[in-house]
Amino acid sequence: MDSNTNGKQVVSKQRVMDHGEVYTNPREVNAMLDLVKQETERIDSRFLEPACGTGNFLTEILRRKLNIVRSRYKKDQNAYERYALLAVSSLYGVEILQDNVLECRQRLFEIFAEEYKSLFKETAQADLYQSIQYVLEKNIIWGDALSLLTVDPDPKPIVFSEWSLVNGSMVKRRDFTYQELLSNESMKELPLFSDLGDEVLIPTPIKEYPLMHYLRIADV
Ligand SMILES: C[S@@+](CC[C@H](N)C(=O)[O-])C[C@H]1O[C@@H](n2cnc3c(N)ncnc32)[C@H](O)[C@@H]1O
Repeated sequence: MDSNTNGKQVVSKQRVMDHGEVYTNPREVNAMLDLVKQETERIDSRFLEPACGTGNFLTEILRRKLNIVRSRYKKDQNAYERYALLAVSSLYGVEILQDNVLECRQRLFEIFAEEYKSLFKETAQADLYQSIQYVLEKNIIWGDALSLLTVDPDPKPIVFSEWSLVNGSMVKRRDFTYQELLSNESMKELPLFSDLGDEVLIPTPIKEYPLMHYLRIADV
C-alpha cells in the first residue's frame, strides 16, 4: 500500500508549509490501526479521519472491513452488497485540499470496485456503484476541520450523514452537523448506550430521510 497513490509522503514543500501535508507511511498506519484492531474489523464501526489527505487510514480500514465482508458473505451476493455498502458508509473524512478529497474518494471507490468485480464478475450491479459513489461524496467532505465549515465561497456547516441498515435491504439516513457532534453537550463523555438507565448522548439530527433501498441511495 502506498502513502498516497504516488507512493510519496510529501507532494511539495509549499503544501507542507501551507497545510502540513505529510502523509503517514503504511507501516505506521497499520501499527496504529492494530491498536484498535477489533474495531477496524467490525463492519459498522464508524471512523472519522479529520485532515484525511488522500485517505491513508480510511483505505486501510476499508480493506480490513471488506476482508471480513468477503469471508462472511461471498456466497450471498445480496448480503455481500449490503454489508460492503455499510462498510464504505462507516468511513468519514474531512480534507481542506480539493485534489486530495477527490483522490481519497477515488481510492476508496476503487478498493470496493476491484473487490466486488472480482467476486461477482458477471452479476455486479451498476446501481451499487452509484450508491457507493453517492455515499463517498457525502462522507468524504471538502472542508476545514478547524472551522467545521465546508470550503466554499459561501461556507456552510459540515454535515455528516449516518447510514444504517434496516429491515435487510433498506437504509436509514440521518444528517448531523459536525458542530453538534462536537458540542459541549456531546463532549461530556456520555455513553451512546446504557442498560443502567444512565444519561446517554443522543445528538439531534438536522434531517431524516425516508427509508430507501440500498441500490437507490443516489436517487435522493
Ligand atoms: C499530515 S497530513 C495527514 C494526511 C493523512 N491523514 C495521513 O495520515 O496520511 C495533513 C492533511 O490535513 C490537511 N489539512 C490541513 N489543515 C486542514 C484543515 N484545517 N482541515 C482539514 N484538512 C486540513 C492537509 O491538506 C493534509 O492533507
